[in-house]
Amino acid sequence: MARKFTGGKLVIASHNPGKVREIGDLLAPFGAAVVSAGELNLPEPVEDGLTFTANAELKALAAATASGFPALADDSGLCVSALADAPGIYSARWAGPDKDFGLAMQAVEDKLAGHGDRRAHFICALTLAWPDGHMESFEGRVDGALVWPPRGDQGFGYDPVFLGDGYDITFAEMAPAAKHAISHRADAFKKLVAACFGG
Ligand code: IMP
Repeated sequence: MARKFTGGKLVIASHNPGKVREIGDLLAPFGAAVVSAGELNLPEPVEDGLTFTANAELKALAAATASGFPALADDSGLCVSALADAPGIYSARWAGPDKDFGLAMQAVEDKLAGHGDRRAHFICALTLAWPDGHMESFEGRVDGALVWPPRGDQGFGYDPVFLGDGYDITFAEMAPAAKHAISHRADAFKKLVAACFGG
């Protein structure tokens, strides 16, 4: 049986404003008093895990122990089939120190040149950690394909080149609520909410 979040302050263990916004939207119905790690000036731990879940766990645990409140971390990324699931856990790093996702999308496209297979998926690992070290982790996924050139200005990261299966607009062309209904983050959230926020 998973441990439940019993209300009060919840730290979002991220310094990425796009993620903080999406997680805040997804948690809005559950009455958590959400505050971000950035607002609390919490240090950013080194993400040296080798899986999405390992990175989510180290970020959530660092924020929970530093703040004294339960903390929720997201580690996510784009996995491209023809590139052996790269950039994967290195998705943010492919954007370089300036977090330039135009550059990151171009790098993926350059490496894909000549490949017929444009399948890709996003993964999202979510970890809820408590200050005593207890953790609950969940993984979500959405499958699709990559398009070029990038399209749309909503969302963040690799959204402008990702077409979810069954859709003809990219994640960046969708209204945020439409992306939230089908994304890897929504899939992981459904599992988290059922286990840790359910009655
Ligand atoms: P993290 O902060 O180390 O988990 O980096 C995750 C990176 O994966 C983000 O900076 C984005 O580049 C990419 N990513 C994760 N989720 C999404 C999404 O929903 N849309 C687009 N890109 C995403």
